[in-house]
Amino acid sequence: MACKNWVLVLLGVSLAAAASTRSGTWINVGLQGIRQLEAMRTTELYEVGASPLCANLNGLSPGQGRLCQLYQDHMAGVARGARAGIAECQHQFRDRRWNCSTVEDGTVFGPVLGIASRETAFVHAMAAAGVVYSVSRACRDGQLSSCGCSRSGRPRDLNREWIWGGCGDNLEYGYKFTQGFVDVRERERSYKRGSREQGRSLMNLHNNEAGRRAVVKKSKVTCKCHGVSGSCSLITCWQQLASFREVGDYLLDKYDGATEVRVNRRGRLSIRDPRFTLPTANDLVYLEDSPNFCLRNLSMGSLGTQGRVCNRTSAGMDGCNLLCCGRGYNTQKTIVRERCECKFHWCCFVECKTCVKSVDVHTCK
Ligand SMILES: *[C@@H]1O[C@H](CO)[C@@H](O)[C@H](O)[C@H]1NC(C)=O
Ligand SMILES: *[C@@H]1O[C@H](CO)[C@@H](O)[C@H](O)[C@H]1NC(C)=O
Ligand SMILES: *[C@@H]1O[C@H](CO)[C@@H](O)[C@H](O)[C@H]1NC(C)=O
Repeated sequence: MACKNWVLVLLGVSLAAAASTRSGTWINVGLQGIRQLEAMRTTELYEVGASPLCANLNGLSPGQGRLCQLYQDHMAGVARGARAGIAECQHQFRDRRWNCSTVEDGTVFGPVLGIASRETAFVHAMAAAGVVYSVSRACRDGQLSSCGCSRSGRPRDLNREWIWGGCGDNLEYGYKFTQGFVDVRERERSYKRGSREQGRSLMNLHNNEAGRRAVVKKSKVTCKCHGVSGSCSLITCWQQLASFREVGDYLLDKYDGATEVRVNRRGRLSIRDPRFTLPTANDLVYLEDSPNFCLRNLSMGSLGTQGRVCNRTSAGMDGCNLLCCGRGYNTQKTIVRERCECKFHWCCFVECKTCVKSVDVHTCK
């Protein structure tokens, strides 16, 4: 058997999440001091009773505050997850009119999340995904008192000679914890059946679930060879998280294919245009169309695209035509210096010249 095909992928820092309401969001935890959270976790001064840790975290709902008290050592994971979710959102939307920019207040993303749009759907899913990711990894790394390595069952199709049992990312625990922590704020209030508010709450719950599932769906069985000088006489396998980038890419696809829904009189989400297929629990749903984000309108949370750098030859969202909303663009010549005409000299150094090149930078009018 070709052992070299088995690559052990060690992932670096875990990533994660964001979600929100107008008056503030738990995702804000991701913008607060993670180091401080970690320091507080390790001091264990706050084992009993109301902890200043939780009181100092802005954006938690009452239910989330109680969960914070119960699971204080999880909060650094929540924060890391939220922060990574924000970062991944900004990566995925870097070339789009709305670029997932944040504001300096407890709402994290500003008034944009007040609209029940695709963007809001994406942010909620990404945030939930982030927490699943970082908590699952924290369990595996032994950072939490209430969980450890994954105890998921052996996959049926795994080669019978291989051992199922390395220390895997604890996705079952990460999923469960995130479900409790993120969804609780949607269950704290009761809404009139069929109202806009109830629809918004159902939408959030659906997209939170889609985000959690994205992490589980992207995870994979990973194996490693053991044995004297790579003889591969023993192979162990476990469940492992994909990179958070893969989760982000997957959710961006879901954003592009999101389904428009409405809340019906029975208080359920139903599809708005019956010609489309029903969304599954893995898909994103939204209630309201997005603004076009072309012009600056801060009351809506749109920065507008004036001054954004665009690509003159691209037909995609980053192309000057779409990004500038047809307003046209300005072109500026910029001088860049780069290494060029590099020669390898025996032995051993590389000599390059410096070339000066003029490039055109286009920015939206
Ligand atoms: C988003 O675009 C605005 C300009 O519209 C720019 O100032 C900001 O730096 C961008 N943010 C990110 C995260 O790319
Ligand atoms: C900004 O958007 C809001 C909501 O769509 C709209 O009522 C308002 O007129 C807009 N303001 C400007 C300055 O365009
Ligand atoms: C602009 O878009 C074209 C076509 O998609 C692509 O080949 C090129 O690399 C892009 N340029 C930059 C600077 O991103």
